[in-house]
Amino acid sequence: MKLLHLDSSVLGPHSVSRQVSAAIVERLRQADPGLDIVYRDLASTPLGHLTGSHLAAGQGASPDASLREDIAAGQAVLDEFLAADIVVIGAPMYNFTIPSQLKAWIDRILVAGKTFKYGAQGVEGLAGNKRVIVAISRGGFYGPDTPAAVGEHLETYLRWVFGFISIKNCEFIAADGTQVGPEHREKAVAGALQAAGNLAAA
Ligand SMILES: Cc1cc2nc3c(=O)[nH]c(=O)nc-3n(C[C@H](O)[C@H](O)[C@H](O)COP(=O)(O)O)c2cc1C
Repeated sequence: MKLLHLDSSVLGPHSVSRQVSAAIVERLRQADPGLDIVYRDLASTPLGHLTGSHLAAGQGASPDASLREDIAAGQAVLDEFLAADIVVIGAPMYNFTIPSQLKAWIDRILVAGKTFKYGAQGVEGLAGNKRVIVAISRGGFYGPDTPAAVGEHLETYLRWVFGFISIKNCEFIAADGTQVGPEHREKAVAGALQAAGNLAAA
């Protein structure tokens, strides 16, 4: 079994989502010591944004040397994703949604003909039967009964993105209210780490 582990927080060792994503991977590794784990840090090694030149190259235009390198990096992350049976993502909320580093990764894996296609019945996801587990961390609270619920574009966005490419049962472990105060933060992290430890084995 192959596991792809991604982090996207810019806060390095102080990051909540990194701590929780690591705990998820550790839980799954303990359950299956033979897991083949690939790690990618999208904050320390960011992918470039898509440009018109990328799209032109996709249509057959000949890319220059620097673009060729970037296209190869994009192909590598797509191959990694397609090869994975399990994907674990650390995803903090920045300005109500995912970090732009994680969006750049999504832009490289949502590729027509590879992970989805349009057909007579509309969109068909092609990503297959992966297990996706996301460790999300949010400074505030965004539950359905809160005034901020309408501003939640992190979990809802990722659920939609993965559903679009056929992964309908994305699992989320949330640490919420990390910026409300130290007590809230401690409680949120402890709860998320416990949930990670209780995850069903692969
Ligand atoms: C640039 C930036 C933007 C943020 N925007 C939001 C936000 O829109 N809503 C929110 O609830 N928290 C926001 N926060 C707080 C983070 O979501 C919170 O601190 C979270 O625990 C960060 O996860 P991390 O420690 O893994 O980076 C923001 C933090 C940063 C650094």
